[in-house]
Amino acid sequence: MEFSFDINQLFPERISILDQTLEAGRKTAGRPDLQENVATVLDELGRASAKAQQLTAPITSASKLQLQKHQLYLMKDGEANGGRGAVVGFLKVGYKKLFLLDRQGAHVEAEPLCILDFYIAENRQRHGYGLELFNFMLQHKHVEPALMAFDRPSPKFLSFLAKHYNLTQSIPQVNNFVVFEGFFFDKSAGQLRKTP
Ligand code: ACO
Repeated sequence: MEFSFDINQLFPERISILDQTLEAGRKTAGRPDLQENVATVLDELGRASAKAQQLTAPITSASKLQLQKHQLYLMKDGEANGGRGAVVGFLKVGYKKLFLLDRQGAHVEAEPLCILDFYIAENRQRHGYGLELFNFMLQHKHVEPALMAFDRPSPKFLSFLAKHYNLTQSIPQVNNFVVFEGFFFDKSAGQLRKTP
């Protein structure tokens, strides 16, 4: 995904971590012009992800990221576009308080780290970028995939989770979140609490 401005100036690292401040690196701090370009990138990524998932409206945008306590991992290819760089994709995570059903159908309250949005540019899908981005997030957050919850995962994402992390046995829920076998084994991870 290419832009008219210099992606390498906005995002110094191959993978940048963005939060409410929208400050991707020290360079954008106190530079409203650069922050505007960061917002343009996020809005464009959010639209592309929504289109790829056939959602009626984006779930990721600059203004949404500013309002919510989420973290967004953005990957670039610094050498693309004649050295100005291109955006490869993003992964958005955040903690959510959820009411889940365990294997026995008991209600459990948990606040796991959730995958909220995930997108790799169309022409770069199935080249291992998604795996690189996902593994970076796992290391940064010190979390295992089985201890996470997934918000309305698409068929491509379900296939990705099965292939790379052997997550195939999901536990049926009554909301849009998917959790897999193993989620309820480690009680500390999701701060699980049985609810009456
Ligand atoms: N069809 C089926 N499976 C796919 C496809 C596809 N078109 N693309 C990726 N996958 C899965 C497969 O398991 C594939 O392995 P295979 O090629 O051996 O079948 C594996 O992912 C490839 O792994 P990566 O190359 O590391 O994955 P990629 O870089 O393509 O990123 C992602 C995966 C993010 C799901 C990407 O395909 C994408 O952006 N898809 C469109 C948007 C989307 O569905 N995002 C997930 C939304 S759900 C949520 O965010 C909670």
